[in-house]
Amino acid sequence: MDILKSKLFNGWPLLYWIVGINSAAVIAYMPMQDLSGPLGVSEMIQMSVRCSVPLLYLAFAASAINTLFPGKFSRWLLRNRRYIGLSYASSMGWQLFFIIWMLAGYWEYYVEEVYLLSDLVFQVPGYLFIFAMTITSFHAVRRKMSQTQWHVLHRTGIYFLWFTVVDTYYYELTYYGDIQFIDYIYAAAGLLAYLMRVAAWARLRVMQLAKR
Ligand code: HEM
Repeated sequence: MDILKSKLFNGWPLLYWIVGINSAAVIAYMPMQDLSGPLGVSEMIQMSVRCSVPLLYLAFAASAINTLFPGKFSRWLLRNRRYIGLSYASSMGWQLFFIIWMLAGYWEYYVEEVYLLSDLVFQVPGYLFIFAMTITSFHAVRRKMSQTQWHVLHRTGIYFLWFTVVDTYYYELTYYGDIQFIDYIYAAAGLLAYLMRVAAWARLRVMQLAKR
């Protein structure tokens, strides 16, 4: 049996698996943190983003992977891109949950230690894009938009979210003293996802020119 064609690993069931596993990881990690203080909540914010980012990169690079490495896996990835994107949005719900926890419980810490206007300029529109892209992923809403409107929203949104994440890791690697190995992995993976899009675009262009 081809597992990639199984109903269990396609469409909504795939989303339930990913969200379930991510949520289990987040819930299991909570008792290991001191959530009676802001540092523990900040650690949870960081951890929940780390569970989400690979999904964003996969959705961002799905089409390029299919162009560059056509095969069963890349077709499965492309077929499920919508559900992977929605899984990313759902997983970011955990980050939002811990952000609200921090804002409500440790406002002074947020203002003194976390808040930066230059970050907020990306963070708030980031959540607006996640929300807009999520609701317009449902056919009932999508039908009310033109193809162009939908594509502009989703293309701008995915680039914006990708940039926000890669920029955060670039900033961590460049300006923070406390660099972790995973920061390099996430920064490099983000760059790789973009380079794959460029390579796929170039490949399609060459193929189009060859046909003329
Ligand atoms: C108002 C909205 C947001 C606030 C207040 C916020 C706040 C934070 C905080 C406190 C951290 C943890 C820093 C640390 O302990 O090292 C963090 C990490 C991070 N956030 Fe956000 N964030 C917001 C929105 C977003 C959005 C929309 C994205 C992505 C599109 C994002 C991507 C990240 C990334 C990539 C990290 C680094 C995680 C890591 O170190 O592995 N954030 N954020």
